[in-house]
Amino acid sequence: MTQPTPKKPLRIGLIGAGFMGRAHANAYRRAPNFFDLPYEPVLKAICARSEGTAAAFARQWGFESAETDWRRMIERDDIDVIDICTPNDSHRDIAIAAAEAGKMVLCEKPLARTAAEGAEMVAAVEKAGVANMVWYNYRRVPAVTLAKQLIDSGRLGRIYHYRAQFLQDWTISSELPQGGAGLWRLDAAAAGSGVTGDLLAHCIDTALWLNGSVKKVTAMTETFVKERMHQITGKVEPVKIDDACAFLARFENGSLGTFESTRYARGHKALYTFEINGEKASIKWDLHDLHRLGYFDHGDDSLTRGWRSVHVTDHDMPYMDKWWVPGLQIGYEHSFVHQFADFLIGLGSGESAAPTFRDAQETQEVCEAVLASGADGQWHDVEGL
Ligand SMILES: NC(=O)c1ccc[n+]([C@@H]2O[C@H](COP(=O)([O-])OP(=O)(O)OC[C@H]3O[C@@H](n4cnc5c(N)ncnc54)[C@H](O)[C@@H]3O)[C@@H](O)[C@H]2O)c1
Repeated sequence: MTQPTPKKPLRIGLIGAGFMGRAHANAYRRAPNFFDLPYEPVLKAICARSEGTAAAFARQWGFESAETDWRRMIERDDIDVIDICTPNDSHRDIAIAAAEAGKMVLCEKPLARTAAEGAEMVAAVEKAGVANMVWYNYRRVPAVTLAKQLIDSGRLGRIYHYRAQFLQDWTISSELPQGGAGLWRLDAAAAGSGVTGDLLAHCIDTALWLNGSVKKVTAMTETFVKERMHQITGKVEPVKIDDACAFLARFENGSLGTFESTRYARGHKALYTFEINGEKASIKWDLHDLHRLGYFDHGDDSLTRGWRSVHVTDHDMPYMDKWWVPGLQIGYEHSFVHQFADFLIGLGSGESAAPTFRDAQETQEVCEAVLASGADGQWHDVEGL
């Protein structure tokens, strides 16, 4: 009987045991079951600040060991890749230390709090020559990947408009504190910015991928609740994040972009939508119905022409041959499984899986220009890389 060839192990050290820690741990475990990968993920260590959390997470997800200090984890010589799932204020230090130790680095989005921090991180991974990737997972929702294929094949023709929104409603109460566990997103020192870095960063990454670079932007931002109790200091402190942001963009390809994000859209939990209007066809997508791609083709017979709702489950559609039979859909968590699988496939072939740190830095530069414009009301050019 022939034995299967053993795969090379890829020993993972995951830092952060929250929402994204779980999404990534799930991806490491699922990817090798559904994809034929050149590497076998080994869940070597989880790092959380408290021993109890780290130990419980290790038990739940099957990590071999638990750490409470990320620096110690990076020093370990039995770990190949460091995966950063902590709040944004620690991304730079962890990524640079990991790259200097020769580890591959995966980092949650946004890459950093500012473009300056992001630039240091790009320099560190490129100097060390280590594989790197940022978890802008929406690229790997099959319907979004299909949108990319349709656009690249020229079906939309010249693009006129790119429209995106990311709407939530969870910070409307002025009683909600800022800072600390669960609420670091409201604390500018930890998050860098509000909806711009947290939510619009996703919209911008998808837009850059689907529609190319942004040349210039003009934005308006608002902080509706000006002061909140800070959970760490125990004092009422000014709120320095943008609660809402809307911006206009001019793309390099001549199309116009409109982007909006807020955490004050009562009734919306995570309504990420985009629509692209081209000369020949349009595309639209909605995270709440993530397996469908809206498609309108002006070339259709005029009597039956209309918006199609394409259920992206057939085996010739992106990633879907890896899952169930046509007609059966998958979900949010699978975007992380796909991204991790692509990372391992890229390691095997020597081609980096996108977005790399350098790719994600372009999103940082757009965010930086948006925030600068929100502050002074002027148009801002997006800095080149
Ligand atoms: N790709 C996405 O769609 C997506 C979704 C949510 C969050 N994120 C990003 O993921 C990152 C984490 O967000 P989250 O929602 O998982 O946050 P979270 O608050 O749920 O989890 C953060 C975890 O990091 C841990 N942590 C903080 N400092 C640490 C340290 N010094 N050492 C070890 N652990 C530490 C916390 O204890 C917590 O377990 C952020 O950068 C966020 O922007 C991305």
